[in-house]
Amino acid sequence: MSGHNINYKKIYYTLLVLLVISVAGPFLGIFWITMLTAFGIALVKANLVIQNFMHLREERRIIKWILVTSLVLMALMVAGVAPDVYKHDGQNWENIAAKAAVARGIDDGAADHAATDDAAADHADEEADNSSVASGFDARGAYNGICAACHGTAGDGAGPAGGAMNPQPTDFTDAAFWADRDDARIFNVIKNGAAAVGGSPSMVGWSTTYDDEQIEGLVQYINSEFRPH
Ligand code: HEC
Repeated sequence: MSGHNINYKKIYYTLLVLLVISVAGPFLGIFWITMLTAFGIALVKANLVIQNFMHLREERRIIKWILVTSLVLMALMVAGVAPDVYKHDGQNWENIAAKAAVARGIDDGAADHAATDDAAADHADEEADNSSVASGFDARGAYNGICAACHGTAGDGAGPAGGAMNPQPTDFTDAAFWADRDDARIFNVIKNGAAAVGGSPSMVGWSTTYDDEQIEGLVQYINSEFRPH
């Protein structure tokens, strides 16, 4: 059997050299070189390992088919799950929690970008009330992308993530809420969280996501959009 003539050392060194190339390639930052060095060479390496160390060449044919079948099943699973992971909305659904997590996790500039995407979707029902568009910050997009998960897009406190909370997320359309609130209070809560004024820790502060000017935009948005007049 040819299997006994395998030069393991040679294959091992070949793998090492390929490893160096596949790590170095992506550092150039050129898309196709990255694809070729990282993924192309990964295939070559996997092939070398399968052929020589897992002895697939010497195994019975059925082993090959088992390997291929499991790879196909894996690809099917990834393909089936990928849309849910990569996309945050579809025709009949919207993953608000994922959107909020993305917006929170990346820096302000990028968060603005996500908010802009939302804004595009909302453009149809856009009214001329978006107070802070001038500063480049889209308060409506930010509100709908993040705050609405709990407070609801209608501001009524009935967002999908708010249901089990106690106390419930504030209903901004309730006149009683506004009876003893002013802009400074609202600003403070959005910036530092409700706990800062003795409220629920479920309403966290957003000072790491939004700067003062952007928080001011949110205050104005809540005022103009939901507050009963
Ligand atoms: C995880 C759920 C959640 C998210 C997300 C959330 N809130 Fe809240 N929010 C709450 C809850 C719960 C309360 C009620 C706190 C209380 O009554 O103690 C609240 C209260 C408030 C209040 C009223 C505070 C007061 O008593 O004066 C404001 C204003 C507010 N949120 C604005 C926002 C804004 C703006 C965002 C988005 C940047 C946001 N919230 C995101 C849960 C949330």
